[in-house]
Amino acid sequence: MRVLVLTGAGVSAESGIPTFRGRDGYWRNLDPTKLATPEAFARDPQLVWDWYRERRERIRSAQPNAAHEAIAKLAQHADGFLLVTQNVDDLHMRAGSPIEKMVQIHGDIFVTRCSRCDFVERGSGGSPEPPESWATKSKSGRLRSIAPTSDDHVNLRCCPKGDALLRPGVVWFGEQLPWSELQRVENFLHRGACDVVIVAGTTATFGYIIDWALRGSRDGAELIEVNPEETPLSRFATRLVREPAAIALPKLVEKFTASSPQI
Ligand code: OAD
Repeated sequence: MRVLVLTGAGVSAESGIPTFRGRDGYWRNLDPTKLATPEAFARDPQLVWDWYRERRERIRSAQPNAAHEAIAKLAQHADGFLLVTQNVDDLHMRAGSPIEKMVQIHGDIFVTRCSRCDFVERGSGGSPEPPESWATKSKSGRLRSIAPTSDDHVNLRCCPKGDALLRPGVVWFGEQLPWSELQRVENFLHRGACDVVIVAGTTATFGYIIDWALRGSRDGAELIEVNPEETPLSRFATRLVREPAAIALPKLVEKFTASSPQI
């Protein structure tokens, strides 16, 4: 049997990571959906980095919950499996979901990359924040690294290969999804229909999430939505589970793995 799982911020909510559109999502009175944009970074990179650094710290001290663990168990039992997560945290991975069966379609918060060239720095939840270096704008408007003694410093890092700012390695609103990751989702869907599609903890605001859920369940597969709230996907679901993911997913996975030793 083949299983596709699509997850969003709600799956990490019970690990203490605020969702984007939930009540606790606001940060310093700012809307995260407005901070996660190229425009916000161009306007105030310091503010955007402050938000991401705080999120990184919160994720480092968080633990995977029963929903992450149930999905990791399902990955081991199904013979065809793909997890597509919109979450940039590493909680699915830390719960044991294998990276070869997982696509982080909105990137990885522990990656830092150049906002202009192909320079990439891979951190991990286990690695500390890189030592802070500093940048300032010269009169010509070019950025250069400076020692953290100057009064006009800002807490930003420049690319070691040039003078552009480093940025978080995540996908922002209005940006393209990473091509290689998109291909992995497409390849999985092309290889055949699924028997079960589970969509958990997402408002499904992006068309591609609905598209993948529907294509995955095209030949009569079960389409299960796990979400305490209604979403645009709800009307297509064959089963609605209006419970928190950490309660619903262990029960669902238990049922699947008990009914067939190798689903
Ligand atoms: P949202 O914050 O939009 O939605 C969270 C969803 O999780 C809502 O539908 C909640 O009802 C649900 N939820 C909350 N607590 C839950 C729980 N304990 N168990 C199950 N569900 C729960 O987050 P996403 O849909 O993941 O993208 O947002 C999608 C994308 O929009 C994010 O990846 C981010 C964003 O803004 C970018 O930054 C590009």
